[in-house]
Amino acid sequence: MPLAIWSISLADFRRAVRRLLRLGKPDSRPEGVAGIAQLGHREYVGGRWEEIGRLQFEFLVQHGLRPQHVLLDVACGSLRAGVHLIPYLDRGHYWGLEKESDLIEAGLKRELDPQIRRAKEPQFLINGNFDVSPIRRPVDYLLIHSLFTHLPPELIQHCLRQLQSVSQPSTVCYVTFFETTVRRTNPEAPHDHQSFFYTRDELRDCCLEVGWVSEYLGDWGHPRGQKMLRLTRG
Ligand SMILES: C[S@@+](CC[C@H](N)C(=O)[O-])C[C@H]1O[C@@H](n2cnc3c(N)ncnc32)[C@H](O)[C@@H]1O
Repeated sequence: MPLAIWSISLADFRRAVRRLLRLGKPDSRPEGVAGIAQLGHREYVGGRWEEIGRLQFEFLVQHGLRPQHVLLDVACGSLRAGVHLIPYLDRGHYWGLEKESDLIEAGLKRELDPQIRRAKEPQFLINGNFDVSPIRRPVDYLLIHSLFTHLPPELIQHCLRQLQSVSQPSTVCYVTFFETTVRRTNPEAPHDHQSFFYTRDELRDCCLEVGWVSEYLGDWGHPRGQKMLRLTRG
C-alpha cells in the first residue's frame, strides 16, 4: 500500500534500509560511549522519542500508576519514558537504573526541565549488574521497556533475580519483548543494537524459573511490534 510507505518517518526508513543491508551480518554500530556519541542519546535507545516515551507513560497510567506509587525504570536510557514519569510521580518516587551514565546525563541535561528535576528529585543507579541494593523499600511498579529485546536468557534471569529484592506480592512489573512464534537462534551475547526474539512459552518459562509469574498482554500499540507481559511474584 503506497500510503503506508509515505507514513513512515525518514529515520525509520533509514533504519529499515540499514536492517536490510545488515541481514545476516553482525551489527557494526558501536555500543556504549562511542555509540552514544555517534548516534545521539535519542537514537541510541531506538528513536521515535516522543511517541514511545508517551506510549509507556500512558500505558502505565491506564494500568493503575498513580503519583504516590514508587516506580523503578529498569534500563531507563536517556529518560524517554522518564520525562513523562518524573513530573507525574511524587518527589523521590522515580528510580532509574541504567548501565550508560552518558544516557542519563543527556536525558537530565537536554530533555528534563531543571525545575522538575529539583522539585521531583529523581533517583538513579548506574550499573550493568542490575544492582538495586540502594533502594531500601519495595517498589510498586517495575518498567522494563525494550531491554529483554537485547538480552540472552541468562541475563534476563539475572535481572529478574536481582529485582526480587525490591519487589513484594503487590509489585507489578511490565516487560516488553519481541515475540516469535517459532524459536529463533538469538545472538550469544547481549547487544544494545541487536534484537533478540522469544516465543511466549520460552519467556514464560524463563521468568517462572526465577520466581516471576507472567501474564501475556500482547499488543499494546508499540510502533515496532514489541509485546507486553505483566509479571508478578508467584
Ligand atoms: C532500547 S534501550 C531502551 C531504553 C529505555 N527503556 C527506553 O525505552 O527509552 C535499552 C537500554 O538498556 C540499557 N541496558 C542494556 N543492558 C543493560 C544492563 N545490563 N544494565 C542496565 N542497562 C542496560 C542500554 O544501555 C539502553 O539504554
